[in-house]
Amino acid sequence: MQRRLYTGRDPRRAHSIEELRAMAARRVPNFCFEYVEGGSEEEASLRRNREVFSEIAFKPRSLVDVSKRDIGITLFGRRSAAPFMIGPTGFSGLLAHEGDIALASAAAAAGIPFILSNASTTSLERVIERAGGRVWMQVYMYRTRDFVATLAQRAQNAGVEALVVTTDSAIYGKREWDLRNYARPLKLDLRNTLDVLAHPRWMMDVLWPHGMPRFANLGDLLPPGQDSVRGAASALAKELDPSLSWEDIRWLRDRWPGLLIIKGLMHPDDAARAVSLGADGIVLSNHGGRQLDSSVSAMDVLPDVVDAVKGRLAVMLDGGFRRGGDIVKAMALGADAVLVGRATTYGLAAGGRAGADRAIEILMTEVDRVVGLLGCSSIGALDRQYVQWMLRELRRATATAGEAALETEWQ
Ligand SMILES: Cc1cc2nc3c(=O)[nH]c(=O)nc-3n(C[C@H](O)[C@H](O)[C@H](O)COP(=O)(O)O)c2cc1C
Repeated sequence: MQRRLYTGRDPRRAHSIEELRAMAARRVPNFCFEYVEGGSEEEASLRRNREVFSEIAFKPRSLVDVSKRDIGITLFGRRSAAPFMIGPTGFSGLLAHEGDIALASAAAAAGIPFILSNASTTSLERVIERAGGRVWMQVYMYRTRDFVATLAQRAQNAGVEALVVTTDSAIYGKREWDLRNYARPLKLDLRNTLDVLAHPRWMMDVLWPHGMPRFANLGDLLPPGQDSVRGAASALAKELDPSLSWEDIRWLRDRWPGLLIIKGLMHPDDAARAVSLGADGIVLSNHGGRQLDSSVSAMDVLPDVVDAVKGRLAVMLDGGFRRGGDIVKAMALGADAVLVGRATTYGLAAGGRAGADRAIEILMTEVDRVVGLLGCSSIGALDRQYVQWMLRELRRATATAGEAALETEWQ
């Protein structure tokens, strides 16, 4: 049955991330919503990120006293109020005025870490000054390595706890909605221009009086005056470096004294390599289905990666987390923490800071409820006993039955 969703404008009245998503679709112009929503090519990776959760079911324990529950975790020796954090999303200023500050402030208020994208529209120093809290910084390995070194130095000076280097984007994914929405690079076509005019509330918030948001961290990388989103597009495309290799991770490790996290790995052998290079953590990710299409989801590979690294670094993951129960499934399979991308971005697009706050609140209360219903009083006590991969069990049973049948046939 199709459920009716809240159709008002107050994000505090949304009961699910899906409701925030529906509000976001109404509040921001089409080109912004597609920017958040879309994946690459056939969007098979994007779909896989959601499908995987329906293949994992809970196996609750009964008659356990769950009147006191704890959903907090300890990550890199520090307490976090929930097992998830806000992952890096670029251009957040396109969704709400100073969107990066709104997201970072919401995370700080909730007591969870926030990862700032290097493609943010607010500078990292300003985000830290305005929001406080636990801020990590995401970087791409641009061809101009000096810029990466300068950004790392800025992050260190500003008190950033962890550097998150994204490794899945050395070549840009094919995002057809992005190509379709523009008449020429970053010049909206007529249909989208008219659609923008039909969103005066968004225009008043985002465009007025500052104009289109600009890249606030990339000034040193881009030619003078090219930090506008439009000016930067071609410069940034040239800066992506397909020659990126483990040597570059070693180079960064030598320069960055803080926590180093590698984001975008998907293979147990790569995870083991990250351990040997001295990384402190990894984020299993297919970039929210925006890069390689037809990829496994991070959840698919999580158990094998956890087994491969054996606690030697923190294993985090992202992709498709929209319910507290999704986060609980990842924690039961051995994750140290989860990153959410679109969940909080929908909140931001639906209603700025209030929407981001609401997204976090929805996820936290859902995690708390699911942990209780599972008959477990602490998120840290969850393990694989509490979940079951439905299709895998079925495949295994079918394979065993098939083998038995074959054996009988040959006897
Ligand atoms: C609008 C948007 C912008 C993103 N920008 C970045 C970015 O600048 N750097 C990065 O490492 N990942 C970026 N990502 C990927 C996210 O960090 C994360 O891997 C992904 O969103 C997780 O999937 P989910 O959105 O289904 O939660 C972006 C994702 C979205 C949706």
